[in-house]
Amino acid sequence: MSALLEIQDLEVHFPVGGGWFSGPRAVVHAVDGVDLSVEPGEIVAVVGESGCGKTTLARSVLGLNQPTAGTIRFRGKDVRGARSAQEMRAYRRAIQMIFQDPFDSLNPRKTVLQTLAQPLRIHGIVPRSEIRAEVVRLLNLVGLSPGESYLGRYPHQFSGGQRQRICIARAIALRPSLIVADEAVSALDISIRAQILALLQKLRTDLGLSYLFITHDLGVVRSFCERVVVMYLGHVVEEGPTEQIFERPRHPYTTALLEACPLADPIVARRRTSAPLTGDIPSPVRPPKACRFHTRCPMAEEICGTVAPPIVDCGNGQKSRCHFAGDLDRWPKFDFSSAKASA
Ligand SMILES: Nc1ncnc2c1ncn2[C@@H]1O[C@H](COP(=O)(O)OP(=O)(O)O)[C@@H](O)[C@H]1O
Ligand code: SF4
Ligand SMILES: [Mg+2]
Repeated sequence: MSALLEIQDLEVHFPVGGGWFSGPRAVVHAVDGVDLSVEPGEIVAVVGESGCGKTTLARSVLGLNQPTAGTIRFRGKDVRGARSAQEMRAYRRAIQMIFQDPFDSLNPRKTVLQTLAQPLRIHGIVPRSEIRAEVVRLLNLVGLSPGESYLGRYPHQFSGGQRQRICIARAIALRPSLIVADEAVSALDISIRAQILALLQKLRTDLGLSYLFITHDLGVVRSFCERVVVMYLGHVVEEGPTEQIFERPRHPYTTALLEACPLADPIVARRRTSAPLTGDIPSPVRPPKACRFHTRCPMAEEICGTVAPPIVDCGNGQKSRCHFAGDLDRWPKFDFSSAKASA
């Protein structure tokens, strides 16, 4: 089975500062050589601290940021190679995004009917005479039912969870194959978050969707995603099946993220084994040489500051960018079953 989305060696750099004649003073290495794939029907999480490049990666997939280098293939086709307007339209339809703040991403002057009718009309998803019925169908699908009763309402007349349901309805209106969700449930109360995740899960089954799910919440990752990609300062430092990454991480940064989860969280609770991560993420303008994590890594040795670590295949789909990934004795084994019981 070929990947739905395949990103290879993606670089997104932003020139900053400088003037008209002097050129940029510095370059932000927001995404720096990222490989990532999403299979049909898969839910892949992208995790990492704020500023590590998650949103830039997502925006590049949607064509909102121009890559500096690398390729993005969708259903085997290079997205940047899409020549005809028709090809670009098909691609724009096939990948949709859900943002963190549903209030910001909805036009306050438009009713729900106007908001959801617009993409249907522009892309000609249904005949004009059927647009209203299609909007009602979409609203029912996302749990705003009966759909008719919501058509004339404005965004401010909805709760946060309901607004996110409208954004989800707008995202699925174009019948996409992949949804990129950037911190889509992060701003919601915990009970509403669970409802929205259940809705996304149901839509995935009913509509055959895949998700690229960007979040900093590891509890959500564990309950919702099948594979995890861990980013640090523009690099992917570890990836693998969720259970494996949570139980036997093979990168000190992943270990530190897991350690940073509050023990009260019933999903990610576990025994603590080492000190949590300290200090801020370094500037992406001048990322540390060799291993980018060496300035904060509790396991760092001399080689880490001089030689860039290779990507080590740890088996069963798990990969780590650490010199010591293959040294099994170094890695803690998190015991979720006992920790869950103690949470
Ligand atoms: N348009 C831009 N111009 C300059 N720097 C940017 C731009 N967009 C993002 N960045 C920088 O790129 C880095 C990664 O940002 P972002 O992708 O938003 O990270 P995340 O979503 O993981 O918090 C940050 O240092 C951010 O300031
Ligand atoms: S290569 Fe060295 S600094 Fe980098 S993560 Fe591994 S141990 Fe830490
Ligand atoms: Mg972000």
